[in-house]
Amino acid sequence: MRQPLLDGFGRQARKLRLSVTDRCNFRCSFCMPQNPVWLPHSEILTYEEMARLVKILSSMGVGKIRLTGGEPLMRKDLDILVRLLKDIEGVESISLTTNGYLLAGMTEKLREAGLESVTVSLHSLKPERFESIVGRKDVFSHVLDGIKAASKAGLKPVKINCVVTRGCNDDEVIDFVELARSSGLVVRFIEYMPFDGQKFWSTKLVVTGREILEAISRVYGLVELPREAGSTSRVFRFRDGSPGEVNIITSISQPFCSDCDRIRMTADGKIVPCLFSRDEYDIKPLLRSGSSDEELERFIRDAFRRKSPGVEYMLNRGHIPQHVRPMYTLGG
Ligand code: 5AD
Ligand code: SF4
Repeated sequence: MRQPLLDGFGRQARKLRLSVTDRCNFRCSFCMPQNPVWLPHSEILTYEEMARLVKILSSMGVGKIRLTGGEPLMRKDLDILVRLLKDIEGVESISLTTNGYLLAGMTEKLREAGLESVTVSLHSLKPERFESIVGRKDVFSHVLDGIKAASKAGLKPVKINCVVTRGCNDDEVIDFVELARSSGLVVRFIEYMPFDGQKFWSTKLVVTGREILEAISRVYGLVELPREAGSTSRVFRFRDGSPGEVNIITSISQPFCSDCDRIRMTADGKIVPCLFSRDEYDIKPLLRSGSSDEELERFIRDAFRRKSPGVEYMLNRGHIPQHVRPMYTLGG
């Protein structure tokens, strides 16, 4: 391995969040503006371009790859990309975050190509409420089918992402926990972050991890596992030994920026060292003008060195994070 990829605070990048498209077939209000402007197709990196960058990144120790969007399954033949990435030396795992709508028909292909695990967003267990959150009708059963198909195909783990918003779905926390217990799935409760397309976000709408844990603890005993370095989540199992897992993503109330190990890339080749910073570094001009791998590596290192300290730093100084960018442009 070459020198690890380090930022100016000594944090090492080990995980890549790779957005493969900004397109999405849903319109979650906390993510999309009402009239999104899509990237022109010619600006979006080809699978070969993405694989080349992943090869350079993995040679620096960034081995865990998560494909995101928009909705990654909107990109044609995503299994081809998975296969390309799987063959790269240093790539340890490939996972996917999806809205689940197109998942059922793709799980076998993706697993055969080398996909390990999948995270499906499911913000309500009530069909009508779910469809009002994602802004699309007749989609709930498709998403459930996607989750079932993923488990059946042997993708592991299958996780559920639930963004909890006050007054919208915070009355369903226990229902989700019961889903985890009955299905063995990992249910992840995510604090609402200021990445909405419609700028509704306010701290009042954030249901904190602590509130969620209190609500669960009134009904079920939880045991917290030691936190893995770099992890965004706090992980809990059930005291009574029931299957399933609860994860709490406290990006707002208790961010874990000090050992953050992520680097992000947009579908059009912008390196985004930190989700909470507007800084981005466009590698596409170099990529498309015949630059060598060494030049690309140098560009990535320079960009990553400038990674901002993160949201924790802002909060400690009393700054409430403001709208940074709509989530669909970058994925989780
Ligand atoms: N706050 C928190 N999570 C969000 N997501 C989208 N927008 C937001 C937001 N404003 C979730 C998606 C998906 C993951 C990538 O991030 O629903 O589960
Ligand atoms: Fe699409 Fe995911 Fe954004 Fe919802 S949160 S609009 S599913 S990209």
